[in-house]
Amino acid sequence: MIEGFSRLSKAERRERLVDHGVIAQEQKKQLEAFDLRDEQQATLDNIAENTIANYYLPMGIVPNVYINGKHYWVPMVTEESSVIAAAAYAAKFWAQHGGFRTKVVGTTKLGQIHFFWAGNASELNPLWAELEQQLLKSSEYLSENMQKRGGGIIGIEYEDFSHLIPQYHRIHVYFNTVDAMGANYINSCLEAMAKELPVFMGQHFSNEKAHCEVNMAILSNYTPECLVECTLECRIEELEAVSGGMGSEKFADRFSKAIAIAQVDPYRAVTHNKGIYNGIDAVVIATGNDFRAVEACGHAYAARGGQYTSLSQCKVENGLFRFSVTIPMAVGTVGGLTRAHPMAALALEILGNPSAEELMQIAASMGMANHFAAIRALVTTGIQKGHMKMHLGKILQHLQASDHEYEMALKHFATHEVSFKAVADFLQHQRAKK
Ligand code: MEV
Repeated sequence: MIEGFSRLSKAERRERLVDHGVIAQEQKKQLEAFDLRDEQQATLDNIAENTIANYYLPMGIVPNVYINGKHYWVPMVTEESSVIAAAAYAAKFWAQHGGFRTKVVGTTKLGQIHFFWAGNASELNPLWAELEQQLLKSSEYLSENMQKRGGGIIGIEYEDFSHLIPQYHRIHVYFNTVDAMGANYINSCLEAMAKELPVFMGQHFSNEKAHCEVNMAILSNYTPECLVECTLECRIEELEAVSGGMGSEKFADRFSKAIAIAQVDPYRAVTHNKGIYNGIDAVVIATGNDFRAVEACGHAYAARGGQYTSLSQCKVENGLFRFSVTIPMAVGTVGGLTRAHPMAALALEILGNPSAEELMQIAASMGMANHFAAIRALVTTGIQKGHMKMHLGKILQHLQASDHEYEMALKHFATHEVSFKAVADFLQHQRAKK
């Protein structure tokens, strides 16, 4: 068993990895090569535990993002090639056709207290108003700052679920966390309330009902009332330029059928929605937000009707193409990593230091940008053409192709299959001819 590893310095940890044969000296040097300057490094080392190195991902930027009449340059961090290119393509097209129209539908977040108690709702309901006040009072000190910013607790609800699990009851607490993602605030309030609950039961009930056991108190990442809408709309004929030569009518028809398929087929819907999260996650990561929370919530929301389905809708009628999404988005622009990570703070500055509501709209727009580009590619040339072009560029760069060779390769591989070997053979052939 390895003991005390977390208490070692980073240098000692790397040394220990070499001692244990996990890495070679060469690999240790590789880890060191990714270190930053002292002060910046200390900031990163405070973010997670047992750190041995930095793991970089590229940050790209998408120009021409036009949302509700305002222009943005949107930083995106992703490991997937083509995502930023696709977002930039769609953003540029839509900037010339009305841009992204967005609206925040709600900002409510929530937390839960799960407890076990021998009583039932008919016994607790008459006392609920009193209990609610006591719970609120127990967490009052935690809400002071949030209230100053216009937020705080906005509701509490109790439900008896003892018909599902013996003695199981649940309290839901609703929050407005303003510009914070709010996880720490929510969890602190819930834990304060969770201490108060057994005290209240002890004061108001006798025998076994005087005891209540709180099982857990934690925020819910399912926030169906923290929602943002994003719509893209234009006249059908305006789609000519993106129709891949098939004509705008045919394109709009094929596009809307692709959305209809995702609405009925969960196998397609997962990939379809993943295309939306290509854009959303890249913004969420760039701004230091919790992409697991945002994704988990979105997929649960996509299944809210009992079957997993498309998050987006498309209507083609009366000469109009309308493509929209309504999506939950619990993000913040203060607290957490948003300001602690220097690159996240910088990304937010590039975005003009948006409020959480503005960031919800930016992220949803980039989701729609990627989604539009993906569906467009799928119903026109297929997705591989664009991917292969990027792939070709990377192979040519790796093989140090000259500008002239690059041009020749682009022409050749427009009609030939791209693979590393095929490109290497092509270059060798070209070079031998000289
Ligand atoms: C790839 O990262 C995303 C797509 O698969 C999305 C989609 O199929 O709609 C292209």
